[in-house]
Amino acid sequence: KQLVFSGVQPTGNLHLGNYLGAIKKFVALQDAYNCIYCVVDLHSLTAQLVHDDLGDQTRQITAAFLASGIDPNKHIVFNQSRVMQHAELAWIFNCVARIGWMNRMTQFKDKAGKDRENASLGLLAYPSLMAADILVYRATHVPVGEDQKQHLELTRDIAQKFNNDFSGRIAARGLGVEMKVGDETVNGYFPITEPVIGGPAARIMSLRDGSKKMSKSDPSDLSRINLTDDADTISKKIRKAKTDPDALPSEVDGLAGRPEAENLVGIYAGLAEISKEAVLQQYGGQQFSVFKPALADLAVEKMAPVAGEMRRISADTAYVDSVLRNGGERASVLAEATMKDVRDIIGLLQD
Ligand code: TYM
Repeated sequence: KQLVFSGVQPTGNLHLGNYLGAIKKFVALQDAYNCIYCVVDLHSLTAQLVHDDLGDQTRQITAAFLASGIDPNKHIVFNQSRVMQHAELAWIFNCVARIGWMNRMTQFKDKAGKDRENASLGLLAYPSLMAADILVYRATHVPVGEDQKQHLELTRDIAQKFNNDFSGRIAARGLGVEMKVGDETVNGYFPITEPVIGGPAARIMSLRDGSKKMSKSDPSDLSRINLTDDADTISKKIRKAKTDPDALPSEVDGLAGRPEAENLVGIYAGLAEISKEAVLQQYGGQQFSVFKPALADLAVEKMAPVAGEMRRISADTAYVDSVLRNGGERASVLAEATMKDVRDIIGLLQD
C-alpha cells in the first residue's frame, strides 16, 4: 500500500473548510492507503509562540480526527513534537532549500505582512518542516485544501534537489527507488509526492466575503462554521451568510462572478458528497430563501454528530493522550528508519 500523510495545526477552532477540504478526505483515504495523520504542534509555534492551551488544542484536533472516523488502530495519529526526526530532517532541508524558494511562498508573504524583517525565522522555514513531515515517512500522497498547494510544490522541489544533489551517494548505497515524475522515470531516495486536492470543497470561502477563504483567524465568527457549533448556531450562520439577490443558476457556468453563491453550492456539494452540477440540477432556479434552509438542514445533519462525538472523545483526556502516545511510538520507528538512511547518505557519523 502507498502512504498518505497530512497534518492540521492546533490553532483556533477547526471549521467547515478544514473538515470538507481535509479531514473528510483523510477519512476517505483510509481503506486504500496506510495513513499517518499528525497534529502539527511545532508548526503552530510560528503563529503563536506562547500558548496557554497548546496541549488542549492538540487534544481537540485529535478528537476531531477520531470523531470524523479516523481509526487510530489501523492508522497512525500523533502530535508532531513527539517525533523529533521531523525537526532533524527539517534542519537538513533548510540546507537543501534556498531562501528564494521560501520568500516566494504566498502564505509567508500574507502572514509576515509588511514588516518581513521582523517575521520569525520559523515562519520563513515553515514549508521546510512541512516537507520534512511528509518525507520523513516517504509519503506518496498528501490530502490538503487548495491553500496548501504551493507548499506541496515546494516539497516536491526539495525532494528533487535532495535526490539530485546526492544521486551518486544514494545509488552507491542501493537506497534509490525508481519513480515516475511526469513522463520521466527517475531514481531517487525521496518520492515526489502527489497532492490530493480537489472536489467541490477544496477551497471553502468565508460566509461573509466570498473573496476570502474560511479561516480560523477571521475575527468574525459569523464567517465560519466551527466544528463545535451547535445546530442553532449553524443554522443562524447559514441564514446570515452573504448572498446576491438572484436565483441559483441551473448550470455551473452560471456561478461565475457569484463567489458567495458558488461557495454555498460547494459547501452543499461537499457535505452531500455530490458534484456542484448535481446540486444545481436540484436547486437551479430556486431562491436562496429555499436553498439556505435546505443547506442548513444538511449541515446540521452532517455536522452535529461529529460535534457530539468530538465532545464525548475530548472529555476522555486519558484516552486521547494514549492515542497520541501510541501513534508517536509507531511513527518514531518509521521516521528513525528514514533518518538512518539520510544520515548515511549525507555522511553524518552514526553507529
Ligand atoms: P491548516 O492547519 O491551516 O489547515 C488544515 C487543513 O485544512 C485545509 N483548509 C481548507 N480547505 C478548504 N477550504 C478552506 N477554507 C480551508 N482552510 C484550511 C488546509 O488546506 C489543510 O489541508 N501547513 C498545513 C499543516 C501541515 C501539513 C503538513 C499538511 C503541516 N505539515 C504536511 C500536509 C502535510 C496547515 O497549516 O494546515
